Amino acid sequence: RASIQKAAVAGGRFFGAAAQIGYINAERDLYDAFIRDCGCLTPEIDLKWATNEPSPGSFDFRAMDGLARFASRTGIRLRGHTPVWHRSIPPWAEGPLADADWRPVGRYIAATLRRFPTVEEWDVVNEPIDTGKRMDGLRESPFLQAFGPGYIQRALEEAREHAPRARLMINEFGLEYDTPEHRDRRYLLLKLVERLKRVEAPLDGVGLQSHLRLGYGPFSQPQFAAFLHELAQFGVAITLTELDVKEEAYAAPAETRDQAVADAVRAYLDVAFAEPRVGGLLCWGLSDRHSWLDLTEEDWSRHAGAWKPGEGPGFNRGAPLDAAMRPKPMYRAILQAF
Ligand code: XIL
Repeated sequence: RASIQKAAVAGGRFFGAAAQIGYINAERDLYDAFIRDCGCLTPEIDLKWATNEPSPGSFDFRAMDGLARFASRTGIRLRGHTPVWHRSIPPWAEGPLADADWRPVGRYIAATLRRFPTVEEWDVVNEPIDTGKRMDGLRESPFLQAFGPGYIQRALEEAREHAPRARLMINEFGLEYDTPEHRDRRYLLLKLVERLKRVEAPLDGVGLQSHLRLGYGPFSQPQFAAFLHELAQFGVAITLTELDVKEEAYAAPAETRDQAVADAVRAYLDVAFAEPRVGGLLCWGLSDRHSWLDLTEEDWSRHAGAWKPGEGPGFNRGAPLDAAMRPKPMYRAILQAF
């Protein structure tokens, strides 16, 4: 069968997906699909702070060690995700953060970046933007409250110290559509990149998570193209880091929804790949079998009466391969986009 990675390389880019070593080790068909289709992988949860440092200073890197071994054995490249993320702070670290004690944060950045020197690209800080109250558009996270806006630059500088050859990134979601919130987020992300570049923070790239949602209607091609062009002016690498699609179009039968997803993905990638600085694409999961999206189809069948067509949470079906590892229309859309 075809290989998305082969098509990506032919187009001068890379393709990959989020992975969890437990599933890869347990499921031969998933393992084989990764080898065939992916040239890169992101640990979905195996490298998060709350996962790897259950108590202060005692690290459990067995899962990520397994992913790193899988990657080196198969020649698949590694992304690092993500030392600094407000949704993966271990409970014991809340105290030190409340005391504005950076040491646990610095220790985790050092421990991860030094243990995994083969990681080529790090999402050092994940989801720093929020369209909430602040003028600078920064999320009111425990990191911001403890250390002020400078925490992003500090994390990047320490990451550079520990992994001097890796590409250092910030990674963000909610940038694709023509909604007021997405418009604000695009603007705020550009301002953050501008500030970080002005203070010469070691920012090499920006990750665009790319979680698409059919319920938002067509994504905003001209605005998104303009945003990518402005982002590229900062000389940063751009990676589409977490592509998947929430369907939310319940009224339609599965094959209609599948085609709508494929069309949305193709439209998005045609705009993204027109920007040379977009170096690669990863899906947030290669197969529907382990998608993180809200509901599985059987859950939905229980709730079907609860929502009118077009609303409610997404389906558990946002990946290029179905649960039986068969290519979906989305797979072909990605293949052709490269
Ligand atoms: C998600 C994982 O997919 C879930 O399994 C986990 O429970 C929570 O985190 N944006 C990100 C990812 O950057 O780290 C998140 O991954 C999905 C949203």
